[in-house]
Amino acid sequence: MSLLIICNNRKLDRWIDALKACDASLDVQIWPDENSKEAVEFALCWKHPEGILQEYPNLRCVCSMGAGIDFMLNDARFPRHLPVIRLIDPSLAQSMYEYILTAVMHYFREFDIYQAQQKRSNWRVHFNKPMAETNIGVMGLGKLGEYASSRLAAMGFHVTGWARSEKSIKGVRTFAGDVALDDFVSTADMLVCLLPLTGQTRGILNIDLFNKMPKGSCLINVARGQHLIEHDLISALDAGQLRGACLDVFSEEPLPAEHPFWGNEKIIITPHSSSITDPASVAPQIVDNYHRMQKGEPLMNQVDLKRGY
Ligand code: OXD
Repeated sequence: MSLLIICNNRKLDRWIDALKACDASLDVQIWPDENSKEAVEFALCWKHPEGILQEYPNLRCVCSMGAGIDFMLNDARFPRHLPVIRLIDPSLAQSMYEYILTAVMHYFREFDIYQAQQKRSNWRVHFNKPMAETNIGVMGLGKLGEYASSRLAAMGFHVTGWARSEKSIKGVRTFAGDVALDDFVSTADMLVCLLPLTGQTRGILNIDLFNKMPKGSCLINVARGQHLIEHDLISALDAGQLRGACLDVFSEEPLPAEHPFWGNEKIIITPHSSSITDPASVAPQIVDNYHRMQKGEPLMNQVDLKRGY
């Protein structure tokens, strides 16, 4: 019985060490060099090649190496009958919150405007709105969104949140469903996207939405590049409808060198680094789920593939 890691773009030594530290008897194999396809019962994956999971006849469970599972939904030959689990971890929520807070403070204290002024040797003071009057709108109130929105509210910002279904978060005014989306964005000085990528949320960050936001507001996208219609963002920035955008995720990653975002002074680019999974922090839940699978016990953090999160 083995646990197979399928991941092309990460250094895996720390993952193997962390898993073995939880259970030294675990047989950890690395794709594509596994000893036996028949022995694989548990796959730990990140952006696996399409259809590859079909090759393991005794696979019983698939676990994402991150919070998102959209790469599984993109695989037309994914074995949909298998249980799928994802990682939910306080360290992921904390580092995502730190990233969002940094971006929020940057725009709140108008560092973007001062940076632009500096290029023209322009000494001009701006008075920003107080925190309590600055509305941060958080789209997506899963574990990461709930944590970030409640922490921002505790800091003193006026925080609102939007999700598909009703949520209740201390200090946060929440909106639910498509009917409430326009109201929610109409006050957002900064819009933070933390939505899962599903058929309903793909392309949700588009010009119609931007035009409903207050003029001069900012966008922070830490979810998926496919949430954003990229040329709509450029139009909204050029028109001054949006003041700036801080983007950690892109339709194509790494962002191609010739992409217009690189040269746009109103866009801050980070390389999908807002919240990086720490193997040592998540290994215990992976190994716990592996043991639960073996004992036939209910799995933790299971995802509903039909819903997409
Ligand atoms: C994740 C990610 O989903 O890193 O964990 O994007």
